[in-house]
Amino acid sequence: MCDILYFLEVKKMLKYLLIIIATVASEPCPYTYGNQRYERIAVLTIKGLPTNLVVNPNTRDLFFTLIDIDSLHNDDEQTKMDQYVLRNGMPIKIDNVNGQAAAVDAKNNKVYIASDDGLNVLNQTDRANFVSMKDEDIVLLFKPQHNDELYAVLYPENEVYTINLKKNEKNKIEDVPCAFILAVDAQDNIYYECNTKYVKVLLKDFHEPIEFVGISKNSARAMAVDNNNRVILAANDGLYLLRPDNLVPKKLMNLDFVPSGIAFDEDDIFLATNSVIYKYSADECE
Ligand SMILES: *[C@@H]1O[C@H](CO)[C@@H](O)[C@H](O)[C@H]1NC(C)=O
Repeated sequence: MCDILYFLEVKKMLKYLLIIIATVASEPCPYTYGNQRYERIAVLTIKGLPTNLVVNPNTRDLFFTLIDIDSLHNDDEQTKMDQYVLRNGMPIKIDNVNGQAAAVDAKNNKVYIASDDGLNVLNQTDRANFVSMKDEDIVLLFKPQHNDELYAVLYPENEVYTINLKKNEKNKIEDVPCAFILAVDAQDNIYYECNTKYVKVLLKDFHEPIEFVGISKNSARAMAVDNNNRVILAANDGLYLLRPDNLVPKKLMNLDFVPSGIAFDEDDIFLATNSVIYKYSADECE
Protein backbone atom coordinates (compact mmCIF):
# COMPACT_ATOMS: atom_id res chain seq x y z
CA MET A 1 0.00 0.00 0.00
CA CYS A 2 2.66 2.42 1.10
CA ASP A 3 4.84 1.45 -1.87
CA ILE A 4 2.08 2.16 -4.33
CA LEU A 5 1.48 5.64 -2.88
CA TYR A 6 5.19 6.35 -3.09
CA PHE A 7 5.25 5.14 -6.69
CA LEU A 8 2.31 7.36 -7.63
CA GLU A 9 3.97 10.33 -5.94
CA VAL A 10 7.22 9.80 -7.88
CA LYS A 11 5.29 9.38 -11.10
CA LYS A 12 3.49 12.68 -10.50
CA MET A 13 6.78 14.44 -9.78
CA LEU A 14 8.35 13.03 -12.90
CA LYS A 15 5.43 14.26 -14.94
CA TYR A 16 5.89 17.80 -13.60
CA LEU A 17 9.63 17.59 -14.14
CA LEU A 18 9.11 16.61 -17.76
CA ILE A 19 6.69 19.49 -18.28
CA ILE A 20 9.27 21.91 -16.84
CA ILE A 21 12.07 20.51 -19.04
CA ALA A 22 9.88 20.68 -22.14
CA THR A 23 8.93 24.28 -21.37
CA VAL A 24 12.53 25.39 -20.91
CA ALA A 25 13.77 23.56 -24.00
CA SER A 26 11.23 25.19 -26.30
CA GLU A 27 11.01 28.53 -24.53
CA PRO A 28 8.91 30.44 -27.00
CA CYS A 29 10.09 33.74 -28.47
CA PRO A 30 13.49 34.06 -26.74
CA TYR A 31 14.59 37.18 -28.71
CA THR A 32 13.70 40.75 -27.77
CA TYR A 33 13.48 43.64 -30.24
CA GLY A 34 12.33 46.84 -28.56
CA ASN A 35 9.45 45.75 -26.31
CA GLN A 36 8.43 42.87 -28.54
CA ARG A 37 9.43 39.23 -28.26
CA TYR A 38 10.45 37.31 -31.37
CA GLU A 39 11.30 33.82 -32.46
CA ARG A 40 13.61 33.05 -35.34
CA ILE A 41 14.19 30.47 -38.03
CA ALA A 42 16.99 30.09 -40.56
CA VAL A 43 15.32 30.70 -43.94
CA LEU A 44 18.51 29.89 -45.84
CA THR A 45 21.88 28.31 -45.24
CA ILE A 46 24.35 28.85 -48.06
CA LYS A 47 28.15 28.96 -48.46
CA GLY A 48 29.30 32.59 -48.42
CA LEU A 49 28.43 35.91 -46.81
CA PRO A 50 24.95 37.26 -47.65
CA THR A 51 24.82 41.09 -47.72
CA ASN A 52 22.68 43.92 -49.12
CA LEU A 53 19.38 42.34 -48.08
CA VAL A 54 16.17 43.90 -49.39
CA VAL A 55 12.58 42.64 -49.62
CA ASN A 56 10.12 43.33 -52.41
CA PRO A 57 6.91 43.88 -50.38
CA ASN A 58 4.75 43.11 -53.44
CA THR A 59 6.12 39.61 -53.95
CA ARG A 60 7.89 38.80 -50.64
CA ASP A 61 11.06 38.12 -52.66
CA LEU A 62 14.23 38.60 -50.59
CA PHE A 63 17.17 39.90 -52.63
CA PHE A 64 20.74 39.53 -51.41
CA THR A 65 24.32 39.59 -52.64
CA LEU A 66 26.40 36.56 -51.80
CA ILE A 67 30.10 37.27 -51.22
CA ASP A 68 32.68 34.54 -51.76
CA ILE A 69 34.60 34.61 -48.48
CA ASP A 70 37.82 33.10 -49.87
CA SER A 71 38.07 35.89 -52.45
CA LEU A 72 37.27 38.49 -49.75
CA HIS A 73 40.33 37.40 -47.74
CA ASN A 74 42.60 37.22 -50.77
CA ASP A 75 44.09 40.66 -51.49
CA ASP A 76 45.38 39.64 -54.93
CA GLU A 77 41.93 38.84 -56.18
CA GLN A 78 38.85 40.94 -56.81
CA THR A 79 36.05 40.03 -54.39
CA LYS A 80 33.65 37.62 -56.06
CA MET A 81 29.94 38.09 -55.52
CA ASP A 82 26.64 37.03 -57.02
CA GLN A 83 23.16 38.48 -56.92
CA TYR A 84 20.43 36.17 -55.63
CA VAL A 85 16.74 36.24 -54.92
CA LEU A 86 15.23 33.98 -52.26
CA ARG A 87 11.75 33.00 -53.40
CA ASN A 88 9.54 30.40 -51.68
CA GLY A 89 12.61 29.24 -49.76
CA MET A 90 14.69 28.68 -52.91
CA PRO A 91 17.76 30.80 -53.74
CA ILE A 92 17.79 31.76 -57.44
CA LYS A 93 20.95 33.25 -58.94
CA ILE A 94 20.52 36.20 -61.30
CA ASP A 95 23.30 35.10 -63.59
CA ASN A 96 23.20 37.37 -66.65
CA VAL A 97 24.81 40.28 -64.77
CA ASN A 98 27.60 40.89 -62.23
CA GLY A 99 25.08 41.92 -59.60
CA GLN A 100 26.38 43.73 -56.50
CA ALA A 101 23.26 45.11 -54.83
CA ALA A 102 19.50 45.38 -55.34
CA ALA A 103 16.87 48.01 -54.59
CA VAL A 104 13.10 47.80 -54.84
CA ASP A 105 10.78 50.52 -56.09
CA ALA A 106 7.65 49.11 -54.47
CA LYS A 107 5.23 51.68 -55.90
CA ASN A 108 6.23 50.92 -59.48
CA ASN A 109 7.01 47.27 -58.71
CA LYS A 110 10.53 47.50 -60.15
CA VAL A 111 13.67 45.77 -58.92
CA TYR A 112 16.98 47.47 -59.70
CA ILE A 113 20.23 45.56 -59.79
CA ALA A 114 23.55 47.39 -59.44
CA SER A 115 26.42 45.93 -61.42
CA ASP A 116 30.05 46.70 -62.19
CA ASP A 117 28.81 48.05 -65.54
CA GLY A 118 25.78 50.17 -64.71
CA LEU A 119 22.21 50.00 -63.50
CA ASN A 120 19.83 47.23 -64.50
CA VAL A 121 16.20 46.38 -63.97
CA LEU A 122 14.80 42.86 -63.55
CA ASN A 123 12.15 41.63 -65.92
CA GLN A 124 9.39 39.05 -65.31
CA THR A 125 11.76 36.16 -65.97
CA ASP A 126 14.37 37.42 -63.45
CA ARG A 127 16.80 38.57 -66.11
CA ALA A 128 18.70 41.83 -65.70
CA ASN A 129 18.19 44.42 -68.42
CA PHE A 130 20.48 47.45 -68.67
CA VAL A 131 18.88 50.86 -68.01
CA SER A 132 21.61 53.47 -67.39
CA MET A 133 25.03 54.47 -66.03
CA LYS A 134 27.11 52.46 -68.48
CA ASP A 135 30.75 51.92 -67.32
CA GLU A 136 29.90 52.83 -63.71
CA ASP A 137 30.78 50.30 -60.99
CA ILE A 138 27.77 50.58 -58.65
CA VAL A 139 28.42 48.87 -55.32
CA LEU A 140 25.39 49.95 -53.30
CA LEU A 141 21.80 51.02 -53.98
CA PHE A 142 19.09 52.48 -51.80
CA LYS A 143 15.53 53.27 -52.87
CA PRO A 144 13.39 55.49 -50.63
CA GLN A 145 9.72 54.69 -51.24
CA HIS A 146 8.38 58.27 -51.20
CA ASN A 147 9.95 59.75 -54.34
CA ASP A 148 11.52 58.92 -57.72
CA GLU A 149 15.13 59.07 -56.55
CA LEU A 150 17.45 56.11 -56.38
CA TYR A 151 20.66 56.43 -54.35
CA ALA A 152 23.75 54.81 -55.83
CA VAL A 153 27.28 54.45 -54.45
CA LEU A 154 30.05 54.31 -57.04
CA TYR A 155 33.37 52.49 -56.80
CA PRO A 156 36.26 53.30 -56.27
CA GLU A 157 35.70 56.50 -54.22
CA ASN A 158 32.32 55.30 -52.86
CA GLU A 159 30.75 58.67 -53.62
CA VAL A 160 26.99 58.93 -53.33
CA TYR A 161 24.74 59.95 -56.23
CA THR A 162 21.01 60.29 -56.65
CA ILE A 163 19.58 59.05 -59.90
CA ASN A 164 16.25 60.53 -60.89
CA LEU A 165 14.47 57.64 -62.54
CA LYS A 166 11.93 59.77 -64.38
CA LYS A 167 14.35 62.35 -65.78
CA ASN A 168 17.34 59.98 -65.96
CA GLU A 169 19.55 62.58 -64.23
CA LYS A 170 22.47 61.88 -61.93
CA ASN A 171 23.50 64.24 -59.11
CA LYS A 172 26.39 63.92 -56.70
CA ILE A 173 25.67 64.45 -53.01
CA GLU A 174 28.60 66.67 -52.18
CA ASP A 175 28.08 66.74 -48.41
CA VAL A 176 28.46 62.98 -48.00
CA PRO A 177 32.17 62.21 -48.60
CA CYS A 178 31.66 58.47 -49.12
CA ALA A 179 29.43 55.62 -48.04
CA PHE A 180 29.89 51.92 -47.38
CA ILE A 181 26.49 51.66 -45.70
CA LEU A 182 23.55 53.89 -46.61
CA ALA A 183 19.89 54.51 -45.79
CA VAL A 184 17.54 57.43 -46.43
CA ASP A 185 14.37 58.10 -44.44
CA ALA A 186 11.08 59.59 -45.68
CA GLN A 187 12.26 63.10 -44.69
CA ASP A 188 15.31 62.74 -47.00
CA ASN A 189 17.81 62.56 -44.15
CA ILE A 190 20.79 60.48 -45.25
CA TYR A 191 22.34 58.00 -42.81
CA TYR A 192 25.70 56.55 -43.72
CA GLU A 193 29.02 55.17 -42.66
CA CYS A 194 32.19 56.09 -44.52
CA ASN A 195 35.62 54.45 -44.32
CA THR A 196 34.76 52.08 -41.46
CA LYS A 197 34.55 54.96 -39.01
CA TYR A 198 31.50 56.39 -37.33
CA VAL A 199 27.85 56.43 -38.32
CA LYS A 200 26.56 59.84 -39.36
CA VAL A 201 23.43 61.55 -40.60
CA LEU A 202 23.21 64.39 -43.10
CA LEU A 203 19.93 66.15 -42.29
CA LYS A 204 17.91 67.45 -45.21
CA ASP A 205 18.92 70.98 -46.23
CA PHE A 206 22.00 70.86 -43.98
CA HIS A 207 25.62 70.68 -45.13
CA GLU A 208 27.51 69.27 -42.18
CA PRO A 209 26.82 65.63 -41.25
CA ILE A 210 26.30 64.84 -37.56
CA GLU A 211 27.95 61.90 -35.85
CA PHE A 212 26.00 59.42 -33.72
CA VAL A 213 27.58 58.67 -30.36
CA GLY A 214 27.94 55.48 -28.37
CA ILE A 215 28.41 53.02 -31.23
CA SER A 216 31.89 51.50 -31.36
CA LYS A 217 34.12 52.61 -34.21
CA ASN A 218 34.15 50.19 -37.12
CA SER A 219 31.18 48.20 -35.83
CA ALA A 220 28.46 49.27 -38.28
CA ARG A 221 27.52 46.51 -40.72
CA ALA A 222 24.22 47.35 -42.44
CA MET A 223 21.17 49.63 -42.33
CA ALA A 224 17.54 49.38 -43.33
CA VAL A 225 14.36 51.42 -42.97
CA ASP A 226 11.45 49.60 -41.36
CA ASN A 227 7.75 49.99 -42.15
CA ASN A 228 7.40 52.83 -39.68
CA ASN A 229 10.12 54.84 -41.46
CA ARG A 230 12.59 54.08 -38.68
CA VAL A 231 16.23 53.69 -39.67
CA ILE A 232 17.75 50.62 -38.05
CA LEU A 233 21.48 50.02 -37.85
CA ALA A 234 22.84 46.49 -37.59
CA ALA A 235 26.14 46.70 -35.71
CA ASN A 236 28.49 44.07 -34.34
CA ASP A 237 26.71 43.86 -30.99
CA GLY A 238 23.11 44.49 -31.96
CA LEU A 239 20.42 46.56 -33.63
CA TYR A 240 20.10 50.29 -32.98
CA LEU A 241 17.40 52.82 -33.82
CA LEU A 242 18.93 55.89 -35.49
CA ARG A 243 16.84 59.04 -35.14
CA PRO A 244 17.46 62.36 -36.87
CA ASP A 245 16.74 64.28 -33.65
CA ASN A 246 18.75 62.26 -31.15
CA LEU A 247 22.47 61.65 -31.38
CA VAL A 248 22.31 58.69 -28.99
CA PRO A 249 20.92 55.67 -30.83
CA LYS A 250 18.50 53.46 -28.94
CA LYS A 251 19.52 49.84 -28.72
CA LEU A 252 16.63 47.59 -29.72
CA MET A 253 18.21 44.14 -29.79
CA ASN A 254 21.36 42.36 -28.70
CA LEU A 255 22.98 40.02 -31.19
CA ASP A 256 25.32 37.11 -30.54
CA PHE A 257 26.65 37.08 -34.11
CA VAL A 258 28.14 39.69 -36.43
CA PRO A 259 25.41 40.75 -38.87
CA SER A 260 26.17 41.21 -42.58
CA GLY A 261 22.75 42.40 -43.74
CA ILE A 262 19.33 43.51 -42.52
CA ALA A 263 15.91 43.89 -44.15
CA PHE A 264 12.33 44.34 -42.99
CA ASP A 265 9.17 42.77 -44.32
CA GLU A 266 6.22 44.26 -42.42
CA ASP A 267 6.86 43.08 -38.84
CA ASP A 268 9.41 40.45 -39.79
CA ILE A 269 13.14 41.13 -39.60
CA PHE A 270 15.69 39.39 -41.81
CA LEU A 271 19.26 39.28 -40.53
CA ALA A 272 22.17 37.68 -42.32
CA THR A 273 25.51 36.47 -41.05
CA ASN A 274 28.16 34.10 -42.40
CA SER A 275 26.40 31.29 -44.33
CA VAL A 276 22.89 31.95 -43.01
CA ILE A 277 19.87 34.24 -43.29
CA TYR A 278 17.55 34.34 -40.27
CA LYS A 279 13.97 35.51 -40.16
CA TYR A 280 12.72 36.93 -36.86
CA SER A 281 8.97 36.82 -36.49
CA ALA A 282 6.61 37.98 -33.74
CA ASP A 283 3.50 36.34 -35.20
CA GLU A 284 3.37 33.56 -32.63
CA CYS A 285 4.61 35.68 -29.73
CA GLU A 286 2.77 37.66 -27.06
C1 LIG B 1 13.92 39.22 -69.97
O1 LIG B 1 15.22 39.64 -70.34
C2 LIG B 1 15.97 38.70 -71.07
C3 LIG B 1 17.39 39.24 -71.22
O2 LIG B 1 17.39 40.53 -71.76
C4 LIG B 1 15.26 38.46 -72.41
O3 LIG B 1 15.99 37.50 -73.16
C5 LIG B 1 13.85 37.96 -72.13
O4 LIG B 1 13.14 37.83 -73.35
C6 LIG B 1 13.10 38.91 -71.22
N1 LIG B 1 11.83 38.32 -70.85
C7 LIG B 1 10.70 39.00 -70.85
C8 LIG B 1 9.48 38.27 -70.40
O5 LIG B 1 10.60 40.17 -71.22
